[in-house]
Amino acid sequence: TRQRFEVRASIASSEVAEKKSVAEDAYSSLSQVCAVLGTQWGDEGKGKLVDILAERYDIVARCQGGSNAGHTIYNNEGKKFALHLIPSGILNENAVCVVGNGVVVHLPTFFEEVNRLETSGVDCKGRLFVSDRAHLLFDLHQTVDGLREAELKGSMIGTTKRGIGPCYASKAIRNGLRVSDLRHMDTFQEKLANLFWDAASRFKGFDYEEKQLDAEVERYKVFADRLEPYIADTVQYVNQAYHQKKRVLVEGGQATMLDMDFGTYPFVTSSNPSAGGICTGLGIAPKLIGDIVGVVKAYSTRVGAGPYPTEVHGDIGDKIRDAGYEFGTTTGRPRRCGWLDIVALNYSCQINGFSYLNMTKLDVLSCLPVLKIGVAYKGKDGKVLSSFPADLQTLGEVEVEYEEISGWEVDISKLRSYRDLPSAAKRYIDRVESLVGIPVRFIGVGPGRDAMIIKD
Ligand code: GTP
Repeated sequence: TRQRFEVRASIASSEVAEKKSVAEDAYSSLSQVCAVLGTQWGDEGKGKLVDILAERYDIVARCQGGSNAGHTIYNNEGKKFALHLIPSGILNENAVCVVGNGVVVHLPTFFEEVNRLETSGVDCKGRLFVSDRAHLLFDLHQTVDGLREAELKGSMIGTTKRGIGPCYASKAIRNGLRVSDLRHMDTFQEKLANLFWDAASRFKGFDYEEKQLDAEVERYKVFADRLEPYIADTVQYVNQAYHQKKRVLVEGGQATMLDMDFGTYPFVTSSNPSAGGICTGLGIAPKLIGDIVGVVKAYSTRVGAGPYPTEVHGDIGDKIRDAGYEFGTTTGRPRRCGWLDIVALNYSCQINGFSYLNMTKLDVLSCLPVLKIGVAYKGKDGKVLSSFPADLQTLGEVEVEYEEISGWEVDISKLRSYRDLPSAAKRYIDRVESLVGIPVRFIGVGPGRDAMIIKD
């Protein structure tokens, strides 16, 4: 019996070793510059893959958005960290983190995160750099965000009211202040005064007194001194690092269907979370980018308003929401849930040119006996649309054609090998792969960092 036990134990340990090496190969064979981007409406669970890959890259960079993104990650002792502005790589002490020029930086949030990390023993100095070209997001941008949403009344965008949109608006109308302005405090006050004046002249509800402006300038003088060691010409830094063969991971915030150009405008974010944002938000050339991994939830969710063709109401929607714990991280608001939308996913794949997909939350679908995949949109005239529509009216009127696939109804969250997945789950993945023509290489089957299956 003992001999049999030893043989079984040795087979089991060689299987574990084999799984580990398959995973290691899948992660380390990704290209020198690699990006992880959301394919749907955000909250796909990008954090896990980014967290896993961050250990295998020398530089982890953000290129767009601001503190409206958010990954919850865990260090090796299992301590939880919620990061909104600082890239996830900060927990890997060998990685350098870069906040690129395309990011909008709210310094109070930045230092709050730095403080929390440093209190937990994570050293940030010398390994965290903020682009001198990144725009500064002031509290006044947050006030303006709230005022603008209030003005829209019934047709609110549903922003996070973190000031992201107004800050990008300042950037576009060219009265924004950038990190490099902190090095010139003599002209800083005048530029900030211009921003206050602009907000006050546009919004009745925006009142300020001279002393508020003075106080803000004083506050930013302190920030300027404190930020100095973190400021860098990150365009130069990242490009030089590339030529020194350093590996660069780009961590996407939000997702393609929320992209300002390609998403369901106007219910979008104010930056480009799709592939183009990597170049404009970091200053690296397109030809340097190798693999782009698209993260896709096995179903779909979205927060806030806007048409959502594959939304499911009632019992099935509730089941998905409960099993997937689809509630907003900060607001606790229930997310809208629905079936996987292949029309939107194909559009997202077209824009980004993904090399692989990471399908997340496959375990959540174990709660349903029958699954549906939205494969086509039909317009009012009954004809199948040839592409994803630009206008929300058309999108709101489409009828979705579905394919039905039987579910597996067993817990898959403990499985770690592709071959152990129920055949119905494999059929679901295969069908998605064939509908979009991109390999699903990584499969999330649970929230834990280890709950990832590699498909060869
Ligand atoms: P945004 O950047 O805000 O769009 O979010 P995100 O894409 O970074 O999502 P995040 O990584 O915060 O993940 C959302 C939640 O999904 C977290 O609570 C994760 O633990 C959980 N999650 C990720 N992958 C899986 C999975 O495969 N299964 C289950 N059940 N949960 C998962």
